[in-house]
Amino acid sequence: MNASTPHTERYAKVIEVSKRVRWEIERDVIRGRSFDYAKTFLPTGLSLVDELGFLSPADQRLLSQVQGRSYAYIFGLVERFIAAKVMQVAQAKALDDQVALEALVRMTDEELKHQAMFRRLESMMAADMPAGYVMTADANAVAKAVLGASTWAVLALTLDIELFTQAHYRASIEPDANLSPLWKDVFLFHWREESQHAILDELELVAEDATLSQAQRDTAVDELIALVGAVDGILQAQAAADAGYFIAIAGTAFSDAQKEQIHALMLKAYRWQYIVSGVMEPRFQKVLFALVDAQQGARIQAALAPLSYAVPQCAPLPMAA
Ligand SMILES: [Fe+2]
Ligand SMILES: [Fe+2]
Repeated sequence: MNASTPHTERYAKVIEVSKRVRWEIERDVIRGRSFDYAKTFLPTGLSLVDELGFLSPADQRLLSQVQGRSYAYIFGLVERFIAAKVMQVAQAKALDDQVALEALVRMTDEELKHQAMFRRLESMMAADMPAGYVMTADANAVAKAVLGASTWAVLALTLDIELFTQAHYRASIEPDANLSPLWKDVFLFHWREESQHAILDELELVAEDATLSQAQRDTAVDELIALVGAVDGILQAQAAADAGYFIAIAGTAFSDAQKEQIHALMLKAYRWQYIVSGVMEPRFQKVLFALVDAQQGARIQAALAPLSYAVPQCAPLPMAA
């Protein structure tokens, strides 16, 4: 018997779009190109490098390139636990709705491909950039820790991550003639597949939520808050490492005060890229806050409040309340 659910049609639509937008790393993204270090890697709307008035254009560009290298690293890191969690969710449906199963298997396959793409980009940048770059966390150790939390908490964090790829794509299409064409394509192709992932995250999060008691949901909210704190811990370590790397390889001698500002900017940019830009997506707010009660919502807001400064100075949207 082929079980179907009220959402089989939505899973079917995800499969259809997933097949239509399917891309390959070498054929579609890399296309024989290498990185041009005369170009900006992360767009300014993500890197925020225009917020440090003392940086020369060359230093701004180098800072965007260091952040680009960590973009490949950190995405590879989070996609390790995302793929593992989606396999667990898919396994639970192995003898149930076969359409839902196929959608989740495709998502897992895409996430494995994305990790391979980010590893490929990292190896290209490692070959080109000066020695001394440090990756501060191990993908499997992070995944093991994250997967210790409940499915609800992991899916809520995943929804944030997969929605912020949409904000990142929007930033990458801002008019900037000096943006690396290869990086532009990374944002474009990644976003195309992540759009389907966000739909699946929402379906699975809402389905998981329906199985929880109030007490279980209360615990899951605390776990989500702890997971965001753990992500922030990774960002703090990487921002410190990357600020040190940038300062070491830039041709400019910075004052101690400027070094402090570079470090603070790096952390602000990473908090914006990897937490706040997803939290600010209206869909994230709509889905998450529909599942929690007022008290739980207030706990989440309070936990996010110390991060809410991490928006571009010319942010188009205020931090949603
Ligand atoms: Fe991905
Ligand atoms: Fe994804």
